[in-house]
Amino acid sequence: MKLIPAIALCGLLAILVPGVAVTLAAPPDPGMPQYDPNGKLILPADYRDWTFLTSGLDMSYESGPPATDHVFNNVFVPYWAYESFRQKGVWPDQTFLLIEVRAGAGDVSINKRGLVQTTKVNQWEAHVKDRVRFKAEGGWGFFHFDSNQPAKLIPVDPMGCYACHLAHGAADTTFVQFYPTLLPVATRLKTLSPAYLSETASGAPH
Ligand code: HEC
Repeated sequence: MKLIPAIALCGLLAILVPGVAVTLAAPPDPGMPQYDPNGKLILPADYRDWTFLTSGLDMSYESGPPATDHVFNNVFVPYWAYESFRQKGVWPDQTFLLIEVRAGAGDVSINKRGLVQTTKVNQWEAHVKDRVRFKAEGGWGFFHFDSNQPAKLIPVDPMGCYACHLAHGAADTTFVQFYPTLLPVATRLKTLSPAYLSETASGAPH
């Protein structure tokens, strides 16, 4: 007899607080950066399920002859961070941006012109925002993966990753000028960096 009120109470709680059970069972936000015990960043297995930002093709930071070994730079970011950028125009702490450098090919299947993406990934690069962990590096850390083994933090170098991203990335040290769904957001929310704005205004390459 005493069970009945208890069951009734449970039912009442479920009605009063709908979604409680679902919330408790939900997995943590996907795409949070994970590190091994040595502090190396782990390459996420599911990054292809993240939000797609762009595919740069045969990009080079120096002028020269056209590339012969074609590569696509596919850029991904977890959806929760993407949504936050769309609201604020800057990335939230723990944002994990990943570039997959994937080999391109021309003469595949029925394709006779232009390029398609192949199953071969040459390398990955990561850009992670963490104001505490990467305080000394300016709040963001860069990583390079030759394989799916964890990667160590790249040190700050005046000619390297940090300097180019800081000087030329359109918003929050990221290359939002090449991410077509985010450039209008950063423009509207006025979060484009002063360096990028003056580069654009002076007609210099951007
Ligand atoms: C000379 C400039 C330059 C240097 C140096 C550079 N990058 Fe980038 N990076 C870019 C550009 C341009 C993009 C946009 C790529 C695209 O549109 O496909 C980019 C994009 C990225 C992204 C995607 C997220 C973002 O921040 O926009 C990652 C991750 C990244 N770079 C990692 C690295 C790493 C790691 C290094 C150093 C080993 C590095 N980059 C060095 C110019 C640079």
